[in-house]
Amino acid sequence: MSDCRKNIRREPVTTCPPAPTESQPLLSVKGLRKYFPVKGGLLKRQIAAIQAVDDVSFEVRRGEVLGIVGESGCGKSTTARLLMRLIEPDAGQVIFDGKEVGMRDGMTVTDLRRHAQMVFQDSYSSLNPRLPVEDTIAFGPVVHGTARSKAKERARYLLNEVGLDPSRFGRRYPHELSGGQRQRINIARALALQPQMVFLDEAVSALDKSVEAQVLNLLLDLREEFNLTYVFISHDLNVVQYISDRVLVMYLGKVVEVGPIGDVYKEPAHPYTHALLSSRPSMDPEDRKKESPLSGDPPTPINPPSGCRFRTRCAFAEDVCARAVPALTPIRADGSWLAACHMIIPGSGHSRAAAINEATTGGTNG
Ligand SMILES: Nc1ncnc2c1ncn2[C@@H]1O[C@H](COP(=O)(O)OP(=O)(O)OP(=O)(O)O)[C@@H](O)[C@H]1O
Ligand code: SF4
Ligand SMILES: [Mg+2]
Repeated sequence: MSDCRKNIRREPVTTCPPAPTESQPLLSVKGLRKYFPVKGGLLKRQIAAIQAVDDVSFEVRRGEVLGIVGESGCGKSTTARLLMRLIEPDAGQVIFDGKEVGMRDGMTVTDLRRHAQMVFQDSYSSLNPRLPVEDTIAFGPVVHGTARSKAKERARYLLNEVGLDPSRFGRRYPHELSGGQRQRINIARALALQPQMVFLDEAVSALDKSVEAQVLNLLLDLREEFNLTYVFISHDLNVVQYISDRVLVMYLGKVVEVGPIGDVYKEPAHPYTHALLSSRPSMDPEDRKKESPLSGDPPTPINPPSGCRFRTRCAFAEDVCARAVPALTPIRADGSWLAACHMIIPGSGHSRAAAINEATTGGTNG
């Protein structure tokens, strides 16, 4: 992977291996948008909109772990909820395994929810407090027509798979378990319908560090065993680095960078990614004293800055950044690494961008 780094920006791309070997991604998201209405006045009319997710596009390949990172409120959970159709998108296409979700000739939402499951941060949220955990795991398959005895058998098998002895834990209630054990139950519940993809939204964030590591390793083992694909959402950049193959960075409802985890973490292309990574806690006490390069909060998503949404916090902002929205642009010509910044768009008008003719001949841009 590190050899490909030589190809960023100016190097010829011929030595980099072709990106995905499998032509059809498991999940393809195009132009996803969700604006939440803000109502006010006596008549409770819509007076503004929270631009939670705006024109988000990306792909997830079968078997990979895509990490999604970004500050609180940038739209990570809303993206996952839109993809699971827990909320309706305003615009955009979601294509799962080649079939467009919600289209007559595509995939129904019910089918989508068999193939994709979600695990949340709050380990209580998906568990019925009045049901023994074995019955909670069996519930989904029973609803989908599996005989009760078969569903229970699978529940016990899955309990074992997530490291909990079914004879000890199967008849316990959620309140009788620790947070880590409950999250293992949630993972077993998510796997009960044999999904292809699991969305993990801050799924380990509430756990102690040692338990978190165990659950992360469990997730990696289960991916191998059941051929799973994960979308792993977290504010913890170290955890995302540990588990992910690729990372997608969001800022104020937009994707600002997406690429292989090793490359993005080593040499981030977008100033926001750079600032985010630089602000993560360091193990070096000297480093910890340094001021974080990402100060203040992001602007409100009700009235985000024009052009590049990061421009109010970016040290490189120029006039063009306020005028035009930067498109996601390949850092590497095979399209495996993209970033949305005028500095990497040849001919954008940013003083650090390459001129158009330089770009075609391998000119500098940053
Ligand atoms: N149901 C809703 N109604 C109105 N606004 C919402 C709703 N859900 C989310 N939002 C807003 O949309 C924006 C994105 O929220 P979201 O929960 O997706 O962020 P996030 O990246 O998951 O943040 P966190 O890291 O804190 O979980 C925020 O401004 C949030 O307040
Ligand atoms: S487009 Fe402009 S403001 Fe946005 S990240 Fe790039 S340089 Fe900064
Ligand atoms: Mg969230």
